[in-house]
Amino acid sequence: MMKQVNFNGTTLPAIGIGTWHMGDSPQTYTQEKATILYGLQHGATVIDTAEMYGEGNAEKLVGDVLQNFDRSKVFLISKFYPQNATKDKMKQALNRSLKRLKTDYLDLYLLHWRGPVPLAETVAGLVELQKAGKIRYWGVSNFDTADLKELYAQPQGDQVFANEDLYNLANRGIEYDLLPWQRRHQLPLIAYAPIDQGDSRGQKLTKNSTIQQIAQAHQVTPMQILLAWTIQAKDIMAIPQTSNVDHMKQNILVGGIDLSNQEMQQIDSQFSAPVFKQPLQMI
Ligand SMILES: NC(=O)c1ccc[n+]([C@@H]2O[C@H](COP(=O)([O-])OP(=O)(O)OC[C@H]3O[C@@H](n4cnc5c(N)ncnc54)[C@H](OP(=O)(O)O)[C@@H]3O)[C@@H](O)[C@H]2O)c1
Repeated sequence: MMKQVNFNGTTLPAIGIGTWHMGDSPQTYTQEKATILYGLQHGATVIDTAEMYGEGNAEKLVGDVLQNFDRSKVFLISKFYPQNATKDKMKQALNRSLKRLKTDYLDLYLLHWRGPVPLAETVAGLVELQKAGKIRYWGVSNFDTADLKELYAQPQGDQVFANEDLYNLANRGIEYDLLPWQRRHQLPLIAYAPIDQGDSRGQKLTKNSTIQQIAQAHQVTPMQILLAWTIQAKDIMAIPQTSNVDHMKQNILVGGIDLSNQEMQQIDSQFSAPVFKQPLQMI
């Protein structure tokens, strides 16, 4: 059974589908399509994409997958470049994204990261798109606490649906002040790179003996424990990316893993929580 999160009244799966680096190669296209479709069919009904990913290739792939699945059952997220954050450019960028995605609306549209356009203009543009029915909700990505404070000071800035930030066992900095601030303001977190890009930095997470022991106890892989840890708080959604159906199956099964308090403490002893403010990490 897929774990669910409640994002201010909207129930969504705790595990969605990331799409960065997908849709670029004809050799892997069919496999990638099948992997995303498997995820949708088994409860991972949130898809995270962006105009940036392969300059539209990931959105095109998602658009192809959506031909084989009921669009209304998918919570579709895309993002626009900061240089497209003006009212006019945002509208054009959205139209291009919708065309590639072969749909007429997004569930959530995110400012990918902060750029030169004043937040007030970006929010006003997003609210217009929302009123026109082209996006259901809008949000931000790669925002730190100070950015969110500034956002909330703008007219309608507090209508933001979610903030999408880097969060995984190797990058716990947001636990110090950003995550508590978001919780106080009921602003949900979408965790990107929730397994540290496949534990790409020398497998420091999956080779850790505590992680391996916990994985063994649950009869799952160390990677599944990393993902289970990211969503253990019950109010965070993670959007792992995979092009492999077996990995997608494993990621979905993570919804059934509950880490005990003792296991969480054991993990803390290896990868400690932050004790001072750290600048937001981004990739
Ligand atoms: N808003 C932003 O600025 C931002 C930035 C970065 C990412 N994102 C979003 O977040 C998504 C996830 O982040 P990410 O793609 O950077 O990293 P990630 O999800 O942490 O890791 C992806 C890597 O993990 C591997 N993997 C996935 N499941 C696995 C499993 N069960 N066992 C073993 N390996 C597994 C994948 O390879 P296989 O294909 O071999 O499974 C892939 O190489 C992105 O795709 C994107 O949608 C957003």
